[in-house]
This record gives sequence, structure tokens and C-alpha cells, in this order.
Amino acid sequence: MQRDIFEIIKTRRSIRKYKKGIPDEVLIRRCIEAACYAPSAKDSQPWSFILVKDKEKIKYLSKTQPYSKFLENSPIVIVALADECKSNHWLEDCSCAIMLLLLETHSLGLGACWNAVYHPETQEREEYVRKILNIDKRYRVIANIGIGYPDEKPLPKKVKSSKEAILKVV
Ligand SMILES: Cc1cc2nc3c(=O)[nH]c(=O)nc-3n(C[C@H](O)[C@H](O)[C@H](O)COP(=O)(O)O)c2cc1C
Repeated sequence: MQRDIFEIIKTRRSIRKYKKGIPDEVLIRRCIEAACYAPSAKDSQPWSFILVKDKEKIKYLSKTQPYSKFLENSPIVIVALADECKSNHWLEDCSCAIMLLLLETHSLGLGACWNAVYHPETQEREEYVRKILNIDKRYRVIANIGIGYPDEKPLPKKVKSSKEAILKVV
């Protein structure tokens, strides 16, 4: 069923608990297809993704940083990469792509959560993920994304209103 984009945006939440079932790869590929429609500087499209299904590798990814533990029970992890040579804005480009991916997962009834790998001050976490998945140095590792069928319903959160968000109208 087609759902209104604003409704999808408003109801998306980070989901860190997943049911046992593994989402069909067709759905996962569709989320990645959605990501590929993101805008990027000079239309550079510097993103790439690794689908991780191997339980042992997922366990290692769940130790990337202190807030990665939720990945442990994720049936699939998508690792989002950016090719530094393709864009000066690889971080923003890739972040746009991840956002579309998160919205598409939600629209398909899946749950997902961004797990930060990229850190502005150190590449230690990126190195850790690079080693686990044997990723070439030219790729920056932006995020691990846990995906599965949702097994939690986060409490409503307070969202900044547009009135608060608009600093001024000039
Ligand atoms: C850049 C970025 C990094 C994030 N890193 C983590 C993380 O490492 N671990 C985690 O559990 N959630 C992470 N999140 C998810 C946020 O905690 C979550 O988006 C925020 O609490 C708002 O909740 P919502 O997504 O349900 O609206 C990250 C989100 C973003 C955008």
C-alpha cells in the first residue's frame, strides 16, 4: 500500500530490537535502491553498501563502539561506505543516502537504526570495521545500520516544531 511521504517521515523511529525473522533480500535491496536516489554534490553518488548476514561478523560489528551493542540481535547489518575520491562532500552525500534508506525500511514495515562509525576526530572505529569486512582504504566507513522486523515501539518523542526551528525570517 502506498503511504504518504509525510506520514512515513513523521512515524519513522530508530528501532534497535528486532524479531527473529530475516527480512527477504528483495526488501533490503529495495532499501538500498531508495538510498541510491539521494542527492549528492556534483551528482557524485559516492556511496556503496555491504550487506552483512554472517552472524559472527555481526557480533564483531556490535563491538564497534559503546553504542553498537544493539546490532548483536540484528538479522542483517548494512554498512554504508563513501568513496573519498569521488566527492568532497562524501559525508553529507552518504548521510543523505542513509536517510532515504531509513525511510524506505520504515515504509516497508521494517525497523532500522543508524550506528555511527565515522567520527570527526579519529578513524579508529573505521579501521575496526575495515578489518572485519576487508574493506579497501579508499572507502570511508560512515555507519553500520541494523535492520530487521521491529520488536519494539519507541515512546513518542518531542520534536522541535517548525516555529522553533525557524531562527528568523528575513
Ligand atoms: C549520525 C547519527 C549517529 C547515530 N549513532 C547511533 C549509535 O551509535 N547508536 C545508536 O543506538 N543510535 C544511533 N543513532 C540514532 C539516534 O540515537 C536516534 O536517531 C535519535 O535518538 C532520535 O531518535 P529517532 O531516530 O527514533 O527519531 C544515530 C543517529 C544519527 C543520525
